[in-house]
Amino acid sequence: MDAVLIDGRRIAGDLRRRVAGELESARGSGAAPGLATILVGRDYAAEAYERRLRRHAEALGCTFGAERLPADAHLADVLATVGKLNADPRVTGILVLRPLPPQVPEVALYRILDPAKDIEAVHPDNAGLMAQGVPRFVPSTPASCFHLLDRYAQSRGQEPAGYLAGKTVVIVGRSHNVGKPAVWLALDRGATVISCDEHTSRANLLAHFTRQADVLIVAAGVPRLITSDHVRDGVVVVDVGINPVTDPATGETHMVGDVDTAGVAVKAEAVTPVPGGIGPITDVWLVRNAVIAAIAQHTDLPVTPWPAVTA
Ligand SMILES: NC(=O)c1ccc[n+]([C@@H]2O[C@H](COP(=O)([O-])OP(=O)(O)OC[C@H]3O[C@@H](n4cnc5c(N)ncnc54)[C@H](O)[C@@H]3O)[C@@H](O)[C@H]2O)c1
Repeated sequence: MDAVLIDGRRIAGDLRRRVAGELESARGSGAAPGLATILVGRDYAAEAYERRLRRHAEALGCTFGAERLPADAHLADVLATVGKLNADPRVTGILVLRPLPPQVPEVALYRILDPAKDIEAVHPDNAGLMAQGVPRFVPSTPASCFHLLDRYAQSRGQEPAGYLAGKTVVIVGRSHNVGKPAVWLALDRGATVISCDEHTSRANLLAHFTRQADVLIVAAGVPRLITSDHVRDGVVVVDVGINPVTDPATGETHMVGDVDTAGVAVKAEAVTPVPGGIGPITDVWLVRNAVIAAIAQHTDLPVTPWPAVTA
């Protein structure tokens, strides 16, 4: 492998120390962060994510609560659960886990989240603030992608603020939580942005666009969608995908990304691994958003949704 493998765990460790400091000052001012998740039905990846968040939140001293509803729950019951968390003063940040069953459209939940607790910025108010470049919260996964790129730029002796200006950033995937806010963040940094989704693939144009990328961010949820044929020499590849794959021989399940890391690494300047890339940073960022929500809700301290990039 020729490419640099960017170590997300190390970046997450640095971020965790910073969040611990923010939490200390939040506590000193009377704020008590609390994170709550809502999961409707069963899902391997979502349940693993819920467990990881509990571990991270509790390790940082943030309370954690997990609401679980059955897969056939009525929309009214799910909405009532959101309403209960909105009204609970111990909960400062709420995360709706996906996938959701068909009777529970995600936007119906997003619209009734209290915007002050909507730490993934999916409520129309918060998504609008994001799109205008003045976010209340920066959603954890795209935030982690750009935080990682900031740190990568720094490691190359480049100024993070200008690293993406004029570069072509291609983003594969257009979800409310990942792909679209990643487009907005890339636009804010002066990049030329190309957004691809499943229609791009169906039109047989995916490789045409991804080969133009200086920086390629992939969040499609398709195991090893991006191969060496999809990239040009010197690209920096951020693999967001976390896909459970079961080995038919052993029956064991493990996680793979959306990128064929070994294949792409022959051409790339740098790639992020799965596991150990974006995932660990996302976990910490989400807890951080519950902390800054607590600060905003309970203190007069200034809140910085995007911390300055310092080691
Ligand atoms: N690393 C993390 O912390 C983290 C966080 C969130 C999501 N994820 C992972 O990222 C992936 C995407 O998550 P999501 O929530 O955005 O998923 P999603 O299903 O909501 O959206 C997927 C997007 O990818 C597009 N897409 C699907 N197939 C495609 C194809 N063949 N070609 C091009 N585009 C295609 C879809 O059109 C859609 O816009 C999943 O694997 C998920 O597990 C990881």
